[in-house]
Amino acid sequence: MGAGIAQVAARAGFAVVMRDVAEEFLTRGMKAIDKSLQRDVDKQRLSPDEKGTIIERIRTTTDTEGLRDAFIVVEAATEDLAVKTEIFKSLDQVARPDAILASNTSSISITKLGGVTQRPERVIGMHFMNPVPVMKLVEIIRGAATSEATYDEVRLLTERLGKIPLDCQDSPGFVSNRVLMPMINEAIFALYEGVASRESIDGIMKLGMNHPMGPLALADFIGLDVCLAIMNVLHDGFGDSKYRPCPLLKRYVDAGWLGKKSGRGFYEY
Ligand code: 3HC
Repeated sequence: MGAGIAQVAARAGFAVVMRDVAEEFLTRGMKAIDKSLQRDVDKQRLSPDEKGTIIERIRTTTDTEGLRDAFIVVEAATEDLAVKTEIFKSLDQVARPDAILASNTSSISITKLGGVTQRPERVIGMHFMNPVPVMKLVEIIRGAATSEATYDEVRLLTERLGKIPLDCQDSPGFVSNRVLMPMINEAIFALYEGVASRESIDGIMKLGMNHPMGPLALADFIGLDVCLAIMNVLHDGFGDSKYRPCPLLKRYVDAGWLGKKSGRGFYEY
């Protein structure tokens, strides 16, 4: 998702620094950006020159120091509180004192992330949807200490990125994943209990509810590890058994069948 966010920001005219822990991930990210922009070149919605200019606006680095001059940093690391906490601590040291630190977290508390920094009023959730270049929504989440000024700036920025900001309070899974993930989890239970085949479950939701993808295909697309992490956040956060992750989801993640990105999930890729 980080590459998608970098692409959207560069396309809106911003100079972007894309940071990852290893060169190979940066190379993969730049390839994804190239492929995504090429779709628009092929459809003659973007000239090859414009595509080149957008790509030139993105600088890559493995060094957090490269983010020193950013006016906003959007973190899009693994959905793991410990990982994100470490990142926010180090960003707080490196970034300009007035920089906004945003997280693209799917479900983790923005209040907690703000709490590990010296600038909780400048910490906010900017939750993009996959695929980032296509989806219009950015869910904006204010932590307990997020200031109105930060919120206003992030709303404006989201609009400049060509997206629609919709806000919600800091609560497990926010709105998007509080509603989406239990549906996906329930679809996995239906498969687990032999209620229907994967094709039937997905077909029923596609044809019957006009969803663009069935819930099992969508789970593969999002990543089964991400789905499990979000279900765990909902389960821990609300303490309600209705959010218990399906054993089949856990088994797939244990097996390394993480969906599209690993070549196998509920479907084979
Ligand atoms: N980059 C740029 N454009 C892309 C793209 C990408 N990565 N992927 C698809 N597109 C474009 C295509 O070029 C096409 O554009 P056009 O209609 O203007 O010509 C359009 O999107 C549709 O693509 P396709 O025809 O190839 O395929 P589909 O019609 O099947 O659409 C899809 C693909 C947009 C992914 C659609 O299936 C969809 O909307 N799926 C649901 C996605 C969804 O629910 N996302 C939210 C996931 S939850 C989340 O992200 C939150 C997280 O916290 C878990």
